[in-house]
Amino acid sequence: MTTAIEETLVLVKPDGVARNLTGEILRRIEAKGYSLVDIRMVQADRDLLAQHYAEHEGKPFYEPLMEFMESGPVVAMRVAGNRVIEGFRVLAGATDPTTALPGTVRGDFGRDWGLKVQQNLVHGSDSVESAERELSLWFA
Ligand code: TYD
Ligand code: MG
Repeated sequence: MTTAIEETLVLVKPDGVARNLTGEILRRIEAKGYSLVDIRMVQADRDLLAQHYAEHEGKPFYEPLMEFMESGPVVAMRVAGNRVIEGFRVLAGATDPTTALPGTVRGDFGRDWGLKVQQNLVHGSDSVESAERELSLWFA
């Protein structure tokens, strides 16, 4: 147990917004004790998404991921708390919604819909460096 007051970027992806799960996801974040600092709804363009997902450029799932993320609005949240970067990723669950554990956002609400890309409802920054970089993109 350590003290590390952090901020992380949470995105409710287009599938989460379309399925009206934004409130449920924010409810879980707040119930856990994390604080919402800022929130906005964004129709992301290619340029923003390319910067956001730069680490995945060239991977087989990159193009379908970009198309999915462009397919509708997302809700971006700046969330603060002690160890919130790791903590939100635990709330989110594993990347693959089929195997994400029940009790997590992806485990409770996601599955493989048989589409080209995993529609897994949420994004959460994976490190302090990623969080700073991503927050500056989405909350410029
Ligand atoms: P990644 O950063 O590895 O996962 P996470 O969102 O858990 O940090 O990948 C980014 C997104 O790309 C992921 O949420 C869903 C999609 N993706 C696929 O469609 N197929 C894959 O094999 C991987 C690894 C990711
Ligand atoms: Mg990631």
